[in-house]
Amino acid sequence: METNPSLRPVLASGQPAQLDLSPRPVSASESMLAELALPGDANNWGFLLGGKVMHLVDICGALAAMKHARCPVVTASADSVNFLHPVHMNHLITLKSSVNRVFNTSMEVGVKVLVEDVMTGEVKHTTSAYLTFVAIDAQGKPVPVAPVIPETEEQQRRFEEAGSRREYRLAQRRKNRLKSAGDAPNQPA
Ligand SMILES: CC(C)(COP(=O)(O)OP(=O)(O)OC[C@H]1O[C@@H](n2cnc3c(N)ncnc32)[C@H](O)[C@@H]1OP(=O)(O)O)[C@@H](O)C(=O)NCCC(=O)NCCS
Repeated sequence: METNPSLRPVLASGQPAQLDLSPRPVSASESMLAELALPGDANNWGFLLGGKVMHLVDICGALAAMKHARCPVVTASADSVNFLHPVHMNHLITLKSSVNRVFNTSMEVGVKVLVEDVMTGEVKHTTSAYLTFVAIDAQGKPVPVAPVIPETEEQQRRFEEAGSRREYRLAQRRKNRLKSAGDAPNQPA
């Protein structure tokens, strides 16, 4: 595959950390993103668009993944996302992400979305999501990622649960591949 032009500067800068596969603690790549809900991102009822929240979830998740892997990543999948509360305009959206577990070239990142009414200080947990990011080289080919070390009880629980979520995802992936192979036009009989 040809080198992705947008990754050339990464290569030019040496992209050396990708080869550093020494284990790193979860805390070293925990990330945060905050944004105010503004009318440009509202739906017709004056609430924040779900798609905007998903966009922020993807960015905040990628931050933790890149900080951990120290190389470019792409989103391979996002598990089901549930919106527990609507987000009103002028509410502060805060997202927190951390790497739950590294497999080989992929890693599961958990993202938690909190929404604060800045007038009252009331904070609600509105969304949680699990995303899988894959570390890639300049040709877009998956590359190995350093193991992550869970340090707290909660991180250990997330690490273990990530294992069963991965099994489910990989089973879904196999199913989808079989389905798209069956759906492909001009398949030999
Ligand atoms: C993700 C991508 C790099 C995987 O490439 P691939 O050639 O299929 O590579 P592999 O089959 O070797 O999979 C690489 C890793 O990704 C994981 N993976 C791939 N698809 C996955 C999925 N849907 N869900 C979870 N993990 C997935 C594999 O399990 C493997 O993990 P491991 O190395 O930790 O075991 C490739 O499909 C891609 O570039 N997709 C587009 C990504 C993108 O553009 N995202 C933005 C949204 S459009």
